[in-house]
Order: sequence, then C-alpha cells, then structure tokens
Amino acid sequence: MPCAQYKDLASSIIVGNRHSRSWRDGNENCRHRGDRSYRLQDRGASTQQGHEVLAASPKSGVNAITGEGLPEALENAQIVIDLANSPSFEEKAVREFFETAGHNLLAAEVNAGVKHHIALSAVGTERLPDNGYFRAKLVQELLIRASPIPYTIVRSTPFMEFLKAIADAGTAGAVVRLSPAYVEPIAADDVADVMAEVALGKPLNGMMEIAGPELLRLNEAVARYLRKTNDPRTVETDTNARFFGAELDDYSLVPAKGVRIGKIRFMDWLNQSPQSREPETAK
Ligand SMILES: NC(=O)c1ccc[n+]([C@@H]2O[C@H](COP(=O)([O-])OP(=O)(O)OC[C@H]3O[C@@H](n4cnc5c(N)ncnc54)[C@H](OP(=O)(O)O)[C@@H]3O)[C@@H](O)[C@H]2O)c1
Repeated sequence: MPCAQYKDLASSIIVGNRHSRSWRDGNENCRHRGDRSYRLQDRGASTQQGHEVLAASPKSGVNAITGEGLPEALENAQIVIDLANSPSFEEKAVREFFETAGHNLLAAEVNAGVKHHIALSAVGTERLPDNGYFRAKLVQELLIRASPIPYTIVRSTPFMEFLKAIADAGTAGAVVRLSPAYVEPIAADDVADVMAEVALGKPLNGMMEIAGPELLRLNEAVARYLRKTNDPRTVETDTNARFFGAELDDYSLVPAKGVRIGKIRFMDWLNQSPQSREPETAK
C-alpha cells in the first residue's frame, strides 16, 4: 500500500499512524491549510531524501498485537515510526498492549533489517509511577532500548487534541475535576513535523522531548477547550485530582529545559482546529 514515491527511494513504514491523532489531526490541519499531501511525505519530498511511506494499522490489515501483516508491511523498510496506541487505557490492558506490540514489532523489524526505530512516548513517564499508562510507556521504552535496532524515543507533552480525553477521564456527572498542574500542550500538527524530521535524521539512541509553546494550567486549558466546543461541563479545580491515576505537582507534566518547542499556540489551534469547530465524533 505505498502512498507516494520520490526519487532516491528508501522505504519507510509507519505503524499505527494514518488514523492516529498524531497523523489524522496533523493531516486534517494540512488539508485545512491547503497542503497537498501527508506531512511525512511532504517532508520526504521537500528534503529530496525520497521515502516511500507506508501507513500501517489494523484498518489497513497490519496488527502489532496479532502480528498480522507485519512481515509484509516491513519488507524493505528502513525506518519505522511507531505511533500505535492501546484502544483501552485500563492499566492491565495498556501494559499488555505496549508489551506485546513492542515485542512483535521489534522482532519483525530485526528480521526485516530496519535501521531506525522511532517511537512517540510521553513527557513525565518516569515521574508518575502511579499512572498506569505511563508505566506501560516505560515498558515500551525499555523494550526499544534493549533491542539491537538504532532508535529515537520522542517524548511529547499531551496533544491539544487530547484535551477532550483528559476532560472525559476527569468527568463525574457534569463536572470535570482537574489538577491545576502546568502543562504545555502541543498540536498534533507540530508533532507530525517533528516525527518527520526525526525520521529523516540519524538515530539518537536516546530520548528527546517536545512540547507546545505555552505553559498553561491543565484545568484552565481544558476549561477553555470545553467553552470553545460548547461543552456544558464545568471544570472544578482540585489539587488532588488524579491524572490517569497519578497525583500531579505543578511540574509533573512539564519537560526539562532544552526541549524542542512546537509553533502552534493554543488559542490559534482552538480557533482553527476542526475539533474545536464541531464536537469530536467517534474515531
Ligand atoms: N495523545 C497524546 O496526547 C499523546 C502524548 C504523548 C505521547 N503520545 C503517544 O503517541 C502515540 C499515538 O497516540 P495517539 O493519541 O495519536 O493515538 P490514537 O489517536 O489513539 O491512535 C492509535 C493508533 O494506534 C493504532 N492501533 C491500535 N491498535 C493497534 C494494533 N494492534 N496494531 C497497530 N496499530 C494499532 C490505531 O490504528 P487504527 O486507526 O487502525 O485503529 C491508531 O492508528 C501513542 O504511543 C501515545 O502513547 C500521545
């Protein structure tokens, strides 16, 4: 299922990507701005490095849990960007997802001779042991570090597109209870830019962090999102409110200095995002 071809062809495969937030929303934004193609393909073309990009996920017959379609999708692949996410955030399910998908994907990549494995992880994974999702991401990271494949782990702050899910997780009735911890939400469009750049660069064999351009309070960012989308829920500030199981201090979700910063500001995203113009529909 190649999507595009450029000269000096090398092939890339993107697993769990086309329909993920990091791919879908970035590309919806691309279309809104009149860009002609998928972001990774655009980047490949613009740098003349030439990559054949294959988006692979269960919807296109590639499943990192069952292994279905993996060897075929990875044939001749040189770079893998793993953007797969667990359908369930329940603690046991999410751990099993990242463990099994990680094992299967990395083993298939070793067989295929992949030269660079790139994964998107989350800022703060090592700081919040009570957050089951973050613990599962750490397992994913450990598998990557232990594999023989050169790698880059990109840890991101929460996507702006994820604010609704954060609201949903903190909702009881008509009230969303949220911590006032700082957060630097990043637009999926900016994330897609970074992932494309990393794919075209050398493996770091380490980790880098990315974040949005503003330091906001989590409760206030979600409240602004809900107001903008005419969501009737109200946000109540609660310093003890848990973030997917973990209590936050002011800086739990904030990256270290030296982080790569996205360009899109929250208000601009709110005003332009398709998600904020109409309530999100089911994926
Ligand atoms: N969202 C955030 O704020 C955020 C922040 C930091 C890091 N991240 C990381 O970024 C990555 C992507 O997150 P997201 O929010 O973009 O996820 P998402 O919107 O939930 O998308 C999940 C993707 O995973 C795919 N997938 C599900 N089961 C799969 C399987 N068995 N095999 C292969 N692919 C499978 C889905 O494919 P189908 O479309 O075919 O179902 C979909 O493309 C995750 O690793 C997440 O931890 C996200």
